[in-house]
Amino acid sequence: MESSTPHQRNTEGNEDDKNNFVSKMALYDLKIARSTLASISHKPTWTIADTASFDCMHYDGDAALDLCAHKLALQPDQRVLDIGSGFSATGRFLALKYQVHVTGVELQPEVHELADTITRKNAEERVVKNVRSVNADFLTLTGDEIYGQDERVPFDHALSLLCIMHLPQSARQPFFEQAHKYLKEGGRIFIEDFYQRKPLIDDERVKLRNLVACTFLPTKSEYSATVAEAGFDSIEFEDVTEHWRDILVARAKKYKAKANNSPDLEKFYDTVAELFLGGDLGGVRLTATKRS
Ligand SMILES: C[S@@+](CC[C@H](N)C(=O)[O-])C[C@H]1O[C@@H](n2cnc3c(N)ncnc32)[C@H](O)[C@@H]1O
Repeated sequence: MESSTPHQRNTEGNEDDKNNFVSKMALYDLKIARSTLASISHKPTWTIADTASFDCMHYDGDAALDLCAHKLALQPDQRVLDIGSGFSATGRFLALKYQVHVTGVELQPEVHELADTITRKNAEERVVKNVRSVNADFLTLTGDEIYGQDERVPFDHALSLLCIMHLPQSARQPFFEQAHKYLKEGGRIFIEDFYQRKPLIDDERVKLRNLVACTFLPTKSEYSATVAEAGFDSIEFEDVTEHWRDILVARAKKYKAKANNSPDLEKFYDTVAELFLGGDLGGVRLTATKRS
């Protein structure tokens, strides 16, 4: 599928601010992505493994995506909306393994462009044809942007991996209302996100804001209430804090041992691991169904 035109809307004042707030994070420093792509530029086509060192920004790699596919009960040819799709690694994996069509929505223009470049060079025709990246803020996404040349039929499923934590409090309800709008009746959404497991102390709030571009986290009951209010039911809220904690501690340790690493990225990995070790910050895997 074709990629959308890069999102450069700033006439209403705050699109660029929002992008800058998120894109300043060490995780989104694109030097690593660009140098990896330069090192494989001689290859005529790329496989998923060629870019796996940087393009998967959720935790637990392919296992998380297999679980997502299982929870959504993905069937070949279904259409999936990936909200906050980053480099579209999730879309390429699901298109290849589960034969679905995936439209990703990504806020940062440069990340979207790299996502598109990687998808177009994939060796598998199914991936090139079935994965599309749209550069837009999901909160203000229009039907023209999301459906492109396709018929305006709502998606079978939606997913969002480690994106929602970047939203301010005021945007959370509108986010789930948008997801509801673009999903068919009875369609399911799969989410992985942060939440406030126990009251956060000031130091944790500052670190979340400055290093993770996260200014607000709901409690478990607030989270589920917002999702229900937006028109979803059958809400399953699974705490995955301990599982992620082990992954994050191992990730920080592995990165520290690397030669020539980026001090900012090392600090980011250390801080996220430390926050999860503290026990106040939690990880959630949530699934919910659009009410008929
Ligand atoms: C941690 S990354 C995860 C990317 C991808 N889901 C993955 O698992 O590899 C979160 C992504 O969400 C994007 N994002 C944040 N707010 C967004 C918004 N309002 N609309 C669309 N994308 C957004 C960020 O730019 C970032 O690329």
